[in-house]
Amino acid sequence: MDLEEFSRKLSDILSAAESEVRSAESSSLADLRAKFLGRKGEMTKMMKHLASLPQDMRPQAGKLANETKKKIESLFSGVVAPQKKSYEKFDPTLPGRKPIVGGIHPLEWTLRRIVDIFYGMGFSVASGPEMETEYYNFDALNTPEDHPARDIQDTFYLERKGWLLRTQTSPVQIRVMESQKPPVKIIAPGRCYRRDAIDSTHYYTFTQVEGLYVDRDVTLADLKGVLTAFAKQFIGENVRVRFRPHFFPFTEPSVEYDFSCPVCDGKGCRVCKGTGWLEISGAGMVDPEVFKAAGYDPDEVQGYAFGMGVERIAMVKFGIDDIRLLYENDLAFLEQF
Ligand code: PHE
Repeated sequence: MDLEEFSRKLSDILSAAESEVRSAESSSLADLRAKFLGRKGEMTKMMKHLASLPQDMRPQAGKLANETKKKIESLFSGVVAPQKKSYEKFDPTLPGRKPIVGGIHPLEWTLRRIVDIFYGMGFSVASGPEMETEYYNFDALNTPEDHPARDIQDTFYLERKGWLLRTQTSPVQIRVMESQKPPVKIIAPGRCYRRDAIDSTHYYTFTQVEGLYVDRDVTLADLKGVLTAFAKQFIGENVRVRFRPHFFPFTEPSVEYDFSCPVCDGKGCRVCKGTGWLEISGAGMVDPEVFKAAGYDPDEVQGYAFGMGVERIAMVKFGIDDIRLLYENDLAFLEQF
C-alpha cells in the first residue's frame, strides 16, 4: 500500500462513518462506535497497516490517520450530546419530593410527658446505673435474701459477684439519700430488667419512673394528692385515683394505685378488662429500715415513694395492645406516631 491508497481508504472510512452515524437509531450507536473505533474496528486496522508502509511515509500517514480518527470520534459526540441534554431538562412544575421526617417514639413521648409534669410540681430529676449492686437493688431496700424478688428467676445476675441489672428504679432512692440531706424531692426515670417470660404485657426490659419525697410531716395523703394531680394532668380533669393495700419490702404501708380508665371513664371496657380501673404501679410510705440504710433518722423524717410503669401508661395513651411493639422498631408501627 502506498500513501495515496492509504489516504483514500481513510476518507472512504470517514464518509461511511458519516452516513451511517447520521441515519442510525440511537440504540445502534454503540455498535457503530465499535465498528469504526473499537479494538477490532476499521481505524485499528488502518493503524496496523501503518507498519507496512515505507519508512519515510509513515509520519504523514500516521498524522492523516489520527485526524480521521478524531473526526469520527466527533461524529459520535455530536449525536449523543443533544439527547443527553433533553434528559436533564428541569421541569419546575413537577411536585416536590417529601423529605422523610422522624418522630418521637411513643415510649419516649410518654416518658418526657411524665417527667415534665413532675418537674412542674417541683421534683428534680435524678438517675442511677442500670448495672447495680445487690446492695442498692435489694439489701438497702429492706429486701432480705430469701425474698422472692431476689429469686434467680426474676433477676439478671451479672458474672461479677454481687452485681445485677437493676430490677426496679428504687435503688436510686438510696443513692440520692446517701448523697444529699433531706428534704429530698426527686423522680428517677430509667430502664429496668427482669427475667420475665415475654408476652403481650411482659418484656425483659421496661421503663419506670421512681418518685421520692422526704421531709418532715409527710403523709399518705400527700402521696395521694401528688398522684391525683399527676393523673389529672396526664389523663384529664375527670380521672380518679384509687389505692389498694399491697406489700413492698421498702414501704410501709404499701399500696398499688390505679387510675380510672380514660377510655370508658370507669364504666368498664376492653382496655381495662371490664374493671373500670388501670393499674399504674406501686407506692407507699418509706419504711424506717430504708431511712436507716441510707443514713437518715426515721424519727426525724417521713417520706413517700412511688414507681410507675411507663410502658403501661404509653399503651393506654396510644391504644397499643402489645408491649413488644414498643421495642421491636417495626417502621410500619412507628410511622403511625
Ligand atoms: N419498685 C416497685 C416495683 O418495681 C414499685 C415501688 C416503688 C413501690 C416505690 C413502692 C415504692 O414494683
